[in-house]
Amino acid sequence: MRGDIHILLIGDPASGKSQLLKLVPEIVPRGRYVSGKGVTAAGLTATVTKDEQFMGGWVLEAGAMVLANKGLLSIDEFEKMSQDDQVAMHEALEQGSVSIAKASIVATLPARTSVLAGGNPKFSRFDPYIAIAKQITIPDTLLSRFDLKFALRDVPDSETDKLVVDHILKSRHDDYEATIPKLSSKFIRKYVAYARDKCKPDLTEEAEKILKNFYIKTRKKAEGATQAIPITLRQFEALMRISEASAKIQLSHVVRKEDAQRAIKLMRYSLRQLGLDPETGQIDVDRAEGATTSSERSRIRIVLDIINDISSVKKEIHMEEIRSAARKEGIEDVDEIIEKLKREGMLFEPSPGYVQKV
Ligand SMILES: Nc1ncnc2c1ncn2[C@@H]1O[C@H](COP(=O)(O)OP(=O)(O)O)[C@@H](O)[C@H]1O
Ligand SMILES: [Mg+2]
Repeated sequence: MRGDIHILLIGDPASGKSQLLKLVPEIVPRGRYVSGKGVTAAGLTATVTKDEQFMGGWVLEAGAMVLANKGLLSIDEFEKMSQDDQVAMHEALEQGSVSIAKASIVATLPARTSVLAGGNPKFSRFDPYIAIAKQITIPDTLLSRFDLKFALRDVPDSETDKLVVDHILKSRHDDYEATIPKLSSKFIRKYVAYARDKCKPDLTEEAEKILKNFYIKTRKKAEGATQAIPITLRQFEALMRISEASAKIQLSHVVRKEDAQRAIKLMRYSLRQLGLDPETGQIDVDRAEGATTSSERSRIRIVLDIINDISSVKKEIHMEEIRSAARKEGIEDVDEIIEKLKREGMLFEPSPGYVQKV
């Protein structure tokens, strides 16, 4: 059973993802950092190359996932990897191994690596009008392998803004000692290594019951409905992994009630961040779509639906066609909405008076 937790961070530019992704490999044992564009499937998993220098045979070269076995791999700019390369990670993410069959070499290498991936949304910034889940270019099958997914939105907030800026200013002063964390990364790395080695916590009956109830209850809400299934067995396993991790970091040998509750809290947060309401299994519009009035939101949604409908028949759509369809729905300010969608890169103008979906 897989014990490694995979986490995905998708967020607005300058929300500190790269900083975090670079830091984490320093505070966990066997951590490595790689970044987007330069990452290929072969570089991540394994590759077979011809050895010209010595024996002239084929040699097996381990990729980053294999080299970070029993450790952690940070992958920055995840969305910039090609889909084929992302898909090559499937096996490593779930089975914890990498298989390769090329030339005369057939091998399976261990790759029990935790992955911390970070990337930007499709339109470089989250669009408050569309569910966040739709703004991520990562295939669903891969997405579901991440135990926790966080959407980091850069929302101005004078209080936290002030704190962050003060911190950055302070770190440039001569007395920057105050900004150095109390625990050194070396110490944390040792602590994590110790916890990993010594703690193999067992689930208590109480913790088991809490996780089971949460899973059954959440699924029950979606019973019989055609809506998206809020959680699957993958997430249940993720809940167990996170509970265990919570016990381990406290050097505990049992997974208590509190650990299970913490796992549920994290899972709920992660589901909500992607706009899924764990209570109803429905897309939680308010949380997914930020601070626009619901009437504006639904007008944009209606216009998008109209465009989607026509797009299935033809690519280039005459503006008048959208206007008349929207008027039937009682929407007058179509041009304004279309302008907005164009600005956000959802639509473009192939020729004057026409729009097309990107
Ligand atoms: N919470 C934060 N605390 C301190 N610095 C931050 C924080 N968030 C962002 N920054 C700073 O903002 C800049 C951009 O962060 P970066 O990690 O490159 O963003 P991203 O990868 O999300 O686009 C960096 O110089 C970083 O130091
Ligand atoms: Mg970055």
